[in-house]
Amino acid sequence: MKNIVVIGAQWGDEGKGKVVDILAPHFQIVARYQGGHNAGHTVRIGTRKFILRLIPSGILHDDCVCVIGNGVVVSPEAFNAEAQELREMGIECAGRLFISTRAHLILPYHNALDRAREARLGAQGVGTTMRGIGPAYESKAARTGIRAGDLFHLELVREKVKTNIEEANRELVALGESALDVETTLDTFLSEATKLQPFVRDTAVFVNRSVREGRAVLLEGAQGTMLDLDHGTYPFVTSSSATAGGAATGLGLPPKAITGALGIAKAYTTRVGGGPFPTELLDETGAYLQKRGNEYGAVTGRPRRTGWFDAVVVRYAVMINGLDAIALTKLDVLDELDEIKVCTAYRYRGEVIEDIPYGGSALAECEPIYETLPGWKTDTSGITDYDDLPEKAKAYVRRLEELVGAPMAMISTGPERSETIIRNGLAVSRWMQ
Ligand code: GDP
Ligand code: IMO
Ligand code: MG
Repeated sequence: MKNIVVIGAQWGDEGKGKVVDILAPHFQIVARYQGGHNAGHTVRIGTRKFILRLIPSGILHDDCVCVIGNGVVVSPEAFNAEAQELREMGIECAGRLFISTRAHLILPYHNALDRAREARLGAQGVGTTMRGIGPAYESKAARTGIRAGDLFHLELVREKVKTNIEEANRELVALGESALDVETTLDTFLSEATKLQPFVRDTAVFVNRSVREGRAVLLEGAQGTMLDLDHGTYPFVTSSSATAGGAATGLGLPPKAITGALGIAKAYTTRVGGGPFPTELLDETGAYLQKRGNEYGAVTGRPRRTGWFDAVVVRYAVMINGLDAIALTKLDVLDELDEIKVCTAYRYRGEVIEDIPYGGSALAECEPIYETLPGWKTDTSGITDYDDLPEKAKAYVRRLEELVGAPMAMISTGPERSETIIRNGLAVSRWMQ
């Protein structure tokens, strides 16, 4: 049995799309288990660039069947647009992509509420992607959500959606926004949502049967550990369980069926949106990393905040997710630096701490304690053999391994599929057999 979960070990955008694309040929099913079209997973194949938002990155491999699990929130409009974009690039989703009957749908009032609440909070806001993600998960928890399986009972959906729009309108008006027109909103929603019907099925049954029959599942996480609703920098998080535990509930696959966990971490750190970020660089080096790393959001185009590698964060991700190995990405972005800093611990109110403290305000107060390593000042882009890395780059990788307590089994040296080191004898090379 081989079912591996891929998880962001920082604040998202670590390069999960690229890594999933590399692993996918060794799996028969690629499944998303949480999040929605707030994700933006970039895959570069030669001169072609794909940005997958809601559809698993495995769709780019003809032999992979893809699943959008029950833990995902699905915007019908975004799904149809993405499927259409893929079709135009020669990739057909019909017949090889399934959406769980239990996946909750994002409705227009979720987007309207997301925007209205962020507008009210202003600079204090979470800085969401405005995709309606939080409000959709709220509806799920409030037990008023509409699920993909409900699309086979349209009369019931009409009734429920009408009630929900009226309810949402009360909040929108109180926030000074205009109310949504019930009939137009309902019609627009249904015209998109009914197109989902052919994709909807009981994916838990499908996935579990496939596993029993010996097929391997790659579980593609979105966002990252520090954006997890429970374990992240609450309230500056997304509204789903991005960590390994969420993979089991988000797909209906028993925890004991998940046989391995791969964390993805950048060789430095980035974050989009608000919230504490101890190693953030607001200086020239930060601007340099942003430019050299092309750190602009794949979904919203927002510039990503940048900073040094934070070993406290990644060590925490190793613990929370039980990571067997890490794929270290964007090592090439550090090529030209004279010196590279790594945060090994924090100073918090005069004390040295090695774990993430409770609460956003405590993390905001933490001062990083740095160790400085020499830069390698050599072009590593495109290197595919670990032995070809400059000694100082290897020393950097080894030090990160020591600090986070997991092997860096894959090292990415460029955005392209081929620009990757797979180290022999470690977890990733085993999973690729
Ligand atoms: P994801 O959300 O975790 O899939 O990551 P994103 O796609 O949002 O952001 C990662 C960005 O880095 C994408 O533009 C990738 O093409 C790019 N990328 C991935 N790995 C590497 C790498 O090793 N080096 C460089 N220079 N770029 C990379
Ligand atoms: P991938 O999968 C980086 C951030 C948003 C915001 C917070 C909440 O590409 O790594 P939301 O719209 O989810 O309610 O926003 O989470 N965020 C991401 N940051 N990568 C992502 O996805 C993200 N998805 C959400 O910027 O701070
Ligand atoms: Mg992304």
